[in-house]
Amino acid sequence: MGKRALERVLNGETVNPPPIWLMRQAGRYLPEYRAVRETAGGFLNLCYNPDFATEVTLQPIRRYGFDAAILFSDILVIPDALKRNVRFEAGEGPRLDPIDADGVMALEKSYDAGRLDPVIAAVKRIRHELPAETTLLGFCGAPFTVATYMIAGRGTSDQAPARLFAYRHRREFLALLDYLADLSADYLIRQLEAGANAVQIFDSWAGVLSEEDFADFAAAPVKRIVDKVRSARPEAKIIAFAKGAGSNLFSYRQKTGADAIGLDWTVPLAMARELQKDGPVQGNLDPLSVVAGGHAMKSRALAILEALADGPLIFNLGHGITPEADPEHVAALVRLVRGEE
Ligand code: CP3
Repeated sequence: MGKRALERVLNGETVNPPPIWLMRQAGRYLPEYRAVRETAGGFLNLCYNPDFATEVTLQPIRRYGFDAAILFSDILVIPDALKRNVRFEAGEGPRLDPIDADGVMALEKSYDAGRLDPVIAAVKRIRHELPAETTLLGFCGAPFTVATYMIAGRGTSDQAPARLFAYRHRREFLALLDYLADLSADYLIRQLEAGANAVQIFDSWAGVLSEEDFADFAAAPVKRIVDKVRSARPEAKIIAFAKGAGSNLFSYRQKTGADAIGLDWTVPLAMARELQKDGPVQGNLDPLSVVAGGHAMKSRALAILEALADGPLIFNLGHGITPEADPEHVAALVRLVRGEE
């Protein structure tokens, strides 16, 4: 550690040009990803086959030379190891068997940690094959976001099933969050031991929570993960991304203990500057601007650099890149951030 640009930023340094990677950078916008996906015959087969997982993790690094590679996997491998019958049907998004309050209390009996062994094998292989200057990021879903999929059995637009469950069965809901936090911490520790240089916790649905519920369901479980990871690996560097969290972000770093916080594209740049006074920030280009490309993308990327590049910044999108993004637009973005155009 120490030399890689992204890890220097996680240590609080300002690095210019800032390191860049993109959430969901290995994915369907890349023709080489779609080709491997065809041969793998199913998304989970990609995640659980270290050869495939290594290949698709490295694809965006070869193409763009990003400063970080993110392990190719999914946040739903934890529910899969809990035998929730996770499926990814083409064009439909994830499906799981919805869990009820009794199911939550019986969950501990179902866990099969060995299910994640191939993911850990992939981490080792990827770190071995990556250029020395590229950071390897591990990741997991935050307990709240993972719980929303487990309860609804699918993605929804407002996570009403999980929020109702939390009102009606608060004790079981909190038990589910704690249990997911403990499993996720162990999983992140295994990734760090296998060669991940830092990790990110994705709370993609934190934005549906009220202020009080954000503290209990988003911030507290992420703190539980951070504390547990640090008790095993005191030097662990952790990025926490709570999408849509708005003004809850002002206390999020301090409440979770994360080193860096991710910012979605709705976070005003003036607010981002405030947040950066307390430590590194990551973000926050609108993924749709990369679909548009040209002036729309360029002007917004430059505004981010102008506002945030004089402090610790990891350049990224405000959420995952979409399948519609043109790979050439991504190449132009990387050149722009690196001052090459
Ligand atoms: O960032 C990367 O390139 C690494 C891999 C990665 C995937 N999913 C691969 C994936 C990461 C970090 C994730 C995180 C993830 N997965 C999140 C949090 C981040 C976010 O985007 O909000 C969530 C909520 C999920 C759950 C999930 N997985 C959904 C809702 C979907 C379907 C929607 C979609 O984007 O396709 C997935 C499938 C998925 N995960 C794909 C990929 C490449 C597409 C599957 C395919 O190839 O058919």
